[in-house]
Amino acid sequence: MQSQDLSNYRKSYEKQELLEKNCPEDPIEMFRDWFITADQSETVDEANAMTVSTIGSDGFPKSRVVLLKKYTYEGFIFYTNYNSEKGKAIAKNNKVCLSFFWAGLERQIIIKGEVEKIAENLSDGYFESRPDGSKLGAWASNQSEVVASRQELDERLKKLEKEFENKDIPRPKHWGGYLVRPISIEFWQGRPNRMHDRIRYTLNDDFSWTVNRLAP
Ligand SMILES: Cc1cc2nc3c(=O)[nH]c(=O)nc-3n(C[C@H](O)[C@H](O)[C@H](O)COP(=O)(O)O)c2cc1C
Repeated sequence: MQSQDLSNYRKSYEKQELLEKNCPEDPIEMFRDWFITADQSETVDEANAMTVSTIGSDGFPKSRVVLLKKYTYEGFIFYTNYNSEKGKAIAKNNKVCLSFFWAGLERQIIIKGEVEKIAENLSDGYFESRPDGSKLGAWASNQSEVVASRQELDERLKKLEKEFENKDIPRPKHWGGYLVRPISIEFWQGRPNRMHDRIRYTLNDDFSWTVNRLAP
C-alpha cells in the first residue's frame, strides 16, 4: 500500500472561547455544563462515550471507550467486568485517565483520577435496570479472554438464555461499577491558529481546586 499522507488535514477551530471568568469554582459544574451541551448537540452522538486509559502490569498504557453512567461531585462512574484487562490493570494501579472528545463542539476534557469499585448494592441497582439481553451478555462474556470462535460465544449465550428463562438474572460478582475520583480536570476548547484555550483544575489537599491556564 502507498503511504498515506495526511499532512494537509487541517481544521481551524473557531466555535467558542473558554475564559477564566466563565469558569465556576468546581470543575464538576463546568463538566455538567459541557456535558449537557454535548448531549443536546446534534453534532455529538453518545456524548457519554469516554476513553479510559489504564497502566497494565506490562507497563504499557491502554485506552478503550466505555460509557459514563453517572457523575456526581465525587466523580465519574462506569461499569465493566472486574476481571477484564482494564479490571486487572486497575487492581494493580488505580491511577487512570478519562477523556472525552466532542469534535462538533471542538472540545476535549481530560480527567486524571484514582479509581475504586463502587458499593455492591449500587452495582446491583444499575445491573437490575439493564435489559435482560445485556444482563446475560455480562454472564456470557469472560471479557478480554481469548475465545475459540464467535460460535462459542453465541452458544454460551443460548445456553444462558435457557438456564435463566423466566428467572431473575443476578449480577455476576465480577461485573460492576468503578468510581473515578478526579485529581485534575482539563477543559480544552479549540481556537484559531492553534491558540487553543486550556483550563486545568487541580485538586488541593483541602478539596478546593486551583485553576490554571495552560499553553496550547
Ligand atoms: C461506544 C462504546 C461503548 C462501550 N462501553 C463499554 C462499557 O460501558 N463497559 C465496558 O466494559 N466496555 C465497553 N465498551 C467496550 C470496551 O471498549 C472494551 O472493548 C472492553 O471494555 C474490553 O476492554 P479491556 O479488554 O481493555 O478491559 C464500549 C465500546 C464502545 C466503542
